[in-house]
Amino acid sequence: MSFEGKVCLFMAIKMIVKDPDPVLREVCKPVTKITPNIIKLLNDMVDTMYDAEGVGLAAPQIGILKRVIVMDCGDEHGGLIELINPEVFETEGEQFGPEGCLSIPNMTGDVKRAQRVKVKGLDRDGKEIVVEGTDLLARCILHEVDHLNGVLYTDLAEKMYRSEPQGGEV
Ligand code: NI
Repeated sequence: MSFEGKVCLFMAIKMIVKDPDPVLREVCKPVTKITPNIIKLLNDMVDTMYDAEGVGLAAPQIGILKRVIVMDCGDEHGGLIELINPEVFETEGEQFGPEGCLSIPNMTGDVKRAQRVKVKGLDRDGKEIVVEGTDLLARCILHEVDHLNGVLYTDLAEKMYRSEPQGGEV
């Protein structure tokens, strides 16, 4: 069941912007101060990601051009991760496999990504944190940071094919 676009007392599910909306091609601005609006943005993004059964979401996907991402690739990858102003500073190895995006429904593409990445950013308390991701989480981090720079995975995919929504899009 989806609450997208409906009023709900306890959650704020936002509409997910779909390709080719030009907002997805903008470069997002860094967050300079963690205000109550940024906390609300994080909460809305987490609710929207879970409602859509995604494993990652970037702020421009709900129309907000700020450098904020959320991810949850499962407990084995550390559960829910929220990052403000994320910066990938180390990548290693290579993986090649299928990737989907909540902003590009019913499509999958094969994309080459680093196997392991390290990203730093701020948590919701303004504390600097470092997250190390491998496999799915590495792919997710790189996909979400690309969103902040106006890059979609279709720009990188070697092959695209139609698919049913399967959960796990980012
Ligand atoms: Ni995406």
